[in-house]
Order: sequence, then structure tokens, then C-alpha cells
Amino acid sequence: MEDQQSLFDLLANGGSAAGGAEDQGVQLGLLEQECLRCASCGLRSGCRQVVFGEGSPRARLMLVGEGPGADEDRLGRPFVGAAGQLLDRILEAVRLKRDEVYIANIVKCRPPSNRLPVPAEVEQCLPHLKRQIQVINPAIIVCLGALATRTLVDRSASITAVRGRWKQLGGRWYMPTFHPAALLRDPGKKRPAWEDFKEVEKRYRQFTDGGIPG
Ligand code: URA
Ligand code: URA
Repeated sequence: MEDQQSLFDLLANGGSAAGGAEDQGVQLGLLEQECLRCASCGLRSGCRQVVFGEGSPRARLMLVGEGPGADEDRLGRPFVGAAGQLLDRILEAVRLKRDEVYIANIVKCRPPSNRLPVPAEVEQCLPHLKRQIQVINPAIIVCLGALATRTLVDRSASITAVRGRWKQLGGRWYMPTFHPAALLRDPGKKRPAWEDFKEVEKRYRQFTDGGIPG
């Protein structure tokens, strides 16, 4: 009950921490400009473009992946390759539109040959994501895969052990689940991921269908 009350407060505030809705768009635009100019780590010189993220500046639900792949690097948008197409289908299945949520990654520049970002790269890039989260002020954050889960929820978490379990941190609800690319590699993970997204939808609807403008 206490947990639900704080989520209610978050949603009712509609992102007041960042000012009005218009401000959120403006602030996010400024952040993006900064991010596009960033060369704090070596990833920027090895990629084609920075993939900042996209969606509603006042999304109540944010999804965080790992980092851009080849397609994202080419198009400058998150989750547009094979994993992104699966994510689109999952979102559709829980009646979420891409433009009502916000989609971002832990690192904004594609690691060479899609390797995992190293801890120093994550550390250099994380302030961008932290500020995105502050400005957008989502009530719910879905961590797609082990890197997002370890970076945002628990450094030592095993994704298999923690997926599907809500974690409340700093007034937000985090749901760790498998990365869509993992679902493509191992179809046995689809069922549990699907259960996780149904949980996410349930929590999201509980509040946004209650007449609180989302
Ligand atoms: N995988 C990710 O983690 N992020 C993307 O944007 C695309 C694929
Ligand atoms: N929901 C779907 O529709 N497909 C998946 O692969 C997972 C969840």
C-alpha cells in the first residue's frame, strides 16, 4: 500500500520535479544536444552517431537497454534492429505505444562489434542516462537485460535470479527482465519475459487508467 501510494504521488505529480510538461521537452532537448557533443569515452570515435533515446519527454514508463547496435548506429534511433522489432511486438501486445514510453540505453554510442561496454565506458556515459531519468521522471523503469539491471538496480544481480521481481528505488519501480536479443537467441526465455511485461502493464494501467493524465 505504501509502495502504491508513492507511485500514485509520482504519477499525480506528472513530472513536476522537472517543471511543466513543456519544460521537460526543452530540458530533454538540451540534454540531447550535450550528449551529441560528448566524447568522454573512446566509444564515440568508433561509432557513426550518438543514439540518445526517444519517446515521450513525460513518459511514465521508460525502457533501458544496453547500447546501440549496428542498425541503431546507422539510424540514430534506439531498438530499431531485430531486437527492436521484437520489442515493438512485445509493447504492442501490452498495448503500449512507442511514443507514449521512452526508450534509451545505458551507453549512447555503439561499442565496436557489439561487445559489452566496459565499466569505465558505462561510468562515463551514465550521467546522461541519470539526467534523462531525472527530467522524464518515469514511475516505472524496465531494465532490458543484465547490463541495465546491474547498472540501475543491483551491481551483482543475476538477471535470471532477479527478473520479474519489482524493485523500488528512489521513488521509482524497476522491473528487470531479459533483453529482447536474449529472447531471440533463446526462445525459452520468451514466456518469462512475457510474464514480466504483463506485470509491467498491470502496474502501469493501475495508475494511468485511474484518470491521472499520463
Ligand atoms: N540492443 C540494445 O541494447 N539497445 C538498442 O538500442 C538496440 C539493441
Ligand atoms: N510477447 C510476445 O508477443 N512475443 C514475445 O516474444 C514475448 C512476449
